[in-house]
Parts: sequence; structure tokens; C-alpha cells
Amino acid sequence: MEKAGIFPEKGRTHQELIQEMESMKVDDARWKEGRTWSMVYHVTDEHKDFIKDSAQRFFSESYINPFAFKSLQRMEKEIIAMTRELLNGGNSVVGTMASGGTESIFLSLYTYREHACKERKIKKDWEIVVPASIHPAFEKAAHILGINIKKAPVSDQYQADIAAMESLITSNTILLAVSAPSYPHGILDPVPEAAALALRHQLPLHVDSCIGGFILPWIEALNPGNLPQWDFRLKGVTSISADTHKFAYGGKGSSVLLYRDMEYLRHQFFITTDWAGGIYASATFMGSRAGGPIASAWASMQSLGKEGYLGITKQIMDGVNRLKEGISAIDALELIGDPCMNIIAFTSKNKSVDIFVVGDYLSEKNWYVDRQQRPNCIHLTVMKQNLPIIDEYLNDLSDAVAYAKNNRKAKAKGDAALYGLMARLPFRGMVANNVRQLFEDLYSNEASNKENPKDSSTDKSSSSPKPARWMGLLNRILSSLPGKR
Ligand SMILES: Cc1ncc(COP(=O)(O)O)c(C=O)c1O
Repeated sequence: MEKAGIFPEKGRTHQELIQEMESMKVDDARWKEGRTWSMVYHVTDEHKDFIKDSAQRFFSESYINPFAFKSLQRMEKEIIAMTRELLNGGNSVVGTMASGGTESIFLSLYTYREHACKERKIKKDWEIVVPASIHPAFEKAAHILGINIKKAPVSDQYQADIAAMESLITSNTILLAVSAPSYPHGILDPVPEAAALALRHQLPLHVDSCIGGFILPWIEALNPGNLPQWDFRLKGVTSISADTHKFAYGGKGSSVLLYRDMEYLRHQFFITTDWAGGIYASATFMGSRAGGPIASAWASMQSLGKEGYLGITKQIMDGVNRLKEGISAIDALELIGDPCMNIIAFTSKNKSVDIFVVGDYLSEKNWYVDRQQRPNCIHLTVMKQNLPIIDEYLNDLSDAVAYAKNNRKAKAKGDAALYGLMARLPFRGMVANNVRQLFEDLYSNEASNKENPKDSSTDKSSSSPKPARWMGLLNRILSSLPGKR
């Protein structure tokens, strides 16, 4: 401990640290101005301050032991009950909260694997069948849990192809899963057909409604009969994940996972009895669990109520319709499939322009552009904070298309070339290696030294990319990579 290092010798003042943290945000995505079309689920500043305050009231508590903090236990139970009601579950529907969509999905795969081991005596070589558009959290969970993930191609409307899924079912299949909706294009899979398939093969069906779960019910209420059923009304649906940190507008770090009955949920619980510390039991993946996200989700749902959610959804969907009309009016562009909520993606009609050149132009105009592949397109999740600047976006988009038409060689200059390259199959292994390298750099000591302001200030001439540019590149590479298959 003799050498001066990065760990401060003496504590620094709160004021100084708050200033420094605020200044760190300088290169962050500009979500408050509505120029980012994903990631931040915002209602109003007043709502944000309120849910922050609610979270802070449970900042120190740990939900590792639900019997120690009855307050958090009550809130979790009430969130589950509200979600069950919203998703048309009967009294048998039970569930837990998790730290986000990925944990809910992980837990569902774990539970169904345990269920298959115990109830069907399938002890290895487990398989799950999903559409290719399913969120990568399934692939990640399957990888960790040693489950083989079988992906069926999607239809020309980017929906799960149920016949293609059926052809992948074997005696080792332990689960089917579909999306309501998929993240990349906001497309609702044909859940009624998937549920019928599950019943026919006596398999469980998980509906990933991490992004749709807290907005589709309001969209349906605004326009009854508009959406096919996708929730517990369908007999074959055995579980649903719905993230409270998305369109329930709670703070980051919370999700709800519901099962049709305890028959499944009981397999999620982990209990060991011979540890020196006593009996250890946990309902989810985490050990210590933050109380704040549970409290803020509860506070958000209680404060907005049905009326609040309906009002916000109406405003957002009006904005979505304006965007859809504006995009469709640009002759070189078309929407992908038939999106069911406030997620849309658009591409170039008949390849008349390079959509990634359009993306580069928009980036130049300070829009945070979510580029996707298969097909190459641009993704928009429309949030409340985007509503005031829809006209500005449509104007810039129209200019971007005109630019792409008039500058067909622009591809060689900007990031578009990179995305074009990555969209080609033979380069995928290379790209994966490059992304792995970016992560190694990000988490290596060398990278953290570079990002230490004391070090980097002396190295203005360095040719290595600045952290902000570097992270931007990483994000943009990731946003166009297999992560969003
Ligand atoms: C459909 C879907 N599933 C799962 C997830 C993963 O959720 P999280 O990022 O909270 O882990 C997302 C995230 O956007 C999603 O859209």
C-alpha cells in the first residue's frame, strides 16, 4: 500500500465527486433530448424523481432474505399480482421478480431444465426450440446451462414459423419459446399457434414479453380486438417474462417472471442445507438482491395506475403512427413487417439506397442510430421523450435518404462500409473475435489506465482511440451484430 495508485489516499468531497460524475456523462447517449431511440424508458422528470425517491427508501435493505424485509416481500407479491391480472392469469399463476429480462429468461430455462430432469427424466442433451428472432438472452442462458438452442427460421413477415419450429422438436425438447414481440422489429409471434403446438406436443411454452408485457395490454385496451392473444388466456402458455424496468417505467434492475402454476416455479428454488452458514435458500439467481428496483417498480405501477398507463400509451402510439406515416411517405424506405407496438424498424425499398449510409448521415446529425442486420435496417423504440422531436427526425431522415441517393459512393467513407462488411457471412467469425478483443481491452488494466483522466490527459498525441469514440464504436458494432439475430 506504499505506492500512490488509483485508490485515493484520502476521501474526496461529495461535491467534487458529484461534479466529476456529472462531467463523465459528456459523451453519453443524449436520451433526454429524445435523440436516442432505445434504452431509457422515461415518463416525466417528476415520475423519475418519484421512483428514484422510492428506490432510495429501500437502498440499504437486501432482499436476500424475504422474511427479513416484509416490506419488500409485500411489494414483490403485489407487483406479481398486478402483473398476473394484467396478463390475464388465473389464481394459480405465481412468479418471482428478477434483476431484468435476461435473468428472467435464464431462470425460466433453468426451471424447465430442472422440471425436465425431475418430471421427464431427461438428464442431459436438453433442447429448446425458438424462432431465429428470439432475444440473445436465450442463447446466453442456454450456453450457460448446457442446453442446445435450436433456431427455426422466421417467415417473410419476420414472425416465428410454427411449422419450422415443429420440425425441430425431438424427444429431448424441454421448452418452446416465442416473443411478444421480438426486439429488433417489434413483431408479435403467432402465439396462439405456438400455444397449440405446445399443447399438441405436451411441452411448456415461454412467451418472452420482456419488452411488450407492460405495454401490449394497454394497446389492446385502446383498440380492443386489434391484437391476437399472446398471454395466459392461451392454455398452452406456461410462463411469461415482462420487465418492470421497461414499460412499467420502474427503475433499472427489475423484471417479472410468471408461471402458470407452482408445478413449474417450485423447480426454480435453490436450497442447500449443509453450509456452515446454515440453510441457504434462494428463489432467483441473485444472492443479495437490491430492494430499490422492487420498490421503484411498485411505486411506478401504483402511481400511474391503469389510467396513467393508458394515457402514456395513447400518446406514444399516436407518435408511432406519425412516424410510420412519415417513413412510409419517403419513397425509398419501407417498414419491416407489421409491428404491433412502439417498436418499428425500416429499411431501404428495393435496395434503392444504402440504409447504413442513411444511418451515417443521421449519426452526423447527432441521432443515436440503432443499426440492425438480417435485413440491414434501422430500429426505433419510440419512447415518450422522443415524441417532441418526431418531425425533426422525419426531416433529417428525408434529407438522409436524399443524401444517400446522391452520394452512392458515401459507403466507402463512413461506418457504412464496416456494417456492410459485417453483414456478410464469411466475416462473422472475424467480427466475433474483434468484439471479444474489444471486451478484453475494455476490461483489461491497460484500458482502465487509459481511461484514468490523470493518465490520458498527458497523452494527447496517442493514436489509440479515445474512450468515448471507442465505446461508441463498440456499441455500434454490437448494434449491428449477431446479438440482434
Ligand atoms: C424481447 C426482449 N427479451 C429480453 C430482453 C432482455 O432484457 P434485459 O436487457 O433487461 O436483460 C430484451 C431487452 O430489450 C427484449 O427486448
